[in-house]
Amino acid sequence: PIDRAIRPKRLTDYIGQPRVREQLEIFIGAARGRDESLDHTLVFGPPGLGKTTLAHIIAAEMGVGLKSTSGPVLERAGDLAAMLTNLDAGDVLFIDEIHRLSPVVEEILYPAMEDFQLDIMIGEGPAARSIKLDLPPFTLVGATTRAGLLTSPLRDRFGIVQRLEFYAIAELTEIVTRSARLMRVETDIEGALEVARRSRGTPRIANRLLRRVRDYAEVRGSGRIDAEIADRALDMLHVDHHGLDHMDRRLLLAMIEKFDGGPVGVDSLAAAIGEERDTIEDVIEPFLIQQGLMMRTARGRVVTRQAWLHFGLAPDETAADAA
Ligand code: ADE
Repeated sequence: PIDRAIRPKRLTDYIGQPRVREQLEIFIGAARGRDESLDHTLVFGPPGLGKTTLAHIIAAEMGVGLKSTSGPVLERAGDLAAMLTNLDAGDVLFIDEIHRLSPVVEEILYPAMEDFQLDIMIGEGPAARSIKLDLPPFTLVGATTRAGLLTSPLRDRFGIVQRLEFYAIAELTEIVTRSARLMRVETDIEGALEVARRSRGTPRIANRLLRRVRDYAEVRGSGRIDAEIADRALDMLHVDHHGLDHMDRRLLLAMIEKFDGGPVGVDSLAAAIGEERDTIEDVIEPFLIQQGLMMRTARGRVVTRQAWLHFGLAPDETAADAA
């Protein structure tokens, strides 16, 4: 509910992802100039980086409506047909978790994307017939955590593909400062920086931590957020100084303590920490890899020297002891 109020609504309010912003500005400007709908757009990247926000921004910049659904919700061909026939000309159809579409639903999407044609079978047995309907032009915006999860025929039908990256601390500081202003909580630059540093490169986490730090400041402090209040609140939340949360530490420590730093297969790791493999691959490890704390190799996951040091452990000594 509060998310909606602080979510940026236009491209100029969107902080970070400079490459994505520049490209979208050009492609949207050109489509508008030609009075066409924007090409189908695939947005991928780890959770919380702004994929849904970008879909809404695309619709706002194009001056069109947005209709929203997700891969797992579209169980049957008819579910997608209902969405497609409900579109107004130029609308954005946003499909979150688009890698989770079933094959029969995906088949409906191909001619819809390519030719704005709905091609569907109705009825069964001898009475079954195929019907074709013209659809209004529309822009499909698909979101997924990893582009590699899509089938190639689906991926190939997106004219625009954008990858979202983890945000730099300076960008997150700007986002926290903006959110704090919209939430009407007084925050100095050092306070915003402390929240930013400990947000795993992720605006959704930064905004969530900001709300908890605000609670802490109101009850334990004067209501104002500075570095010291932010630090105390984030320690209380067990977010460490590198921004690693409980799950991040569990994963890295399991690799170090149970598998001597790896290599270890992701399924073994999932079993060791009691997490889904998908959660490890999509949510937990992308940030740890980006931060140089672990690596994906052909033989499995390995922690880096930096990960041992993060926990005050010495990788060389252990290796020497084992030899
Ligand atoms: N809030 C969440 N993500 C944001 C972004 N990229 N820019 C501005 N505010 C945000």
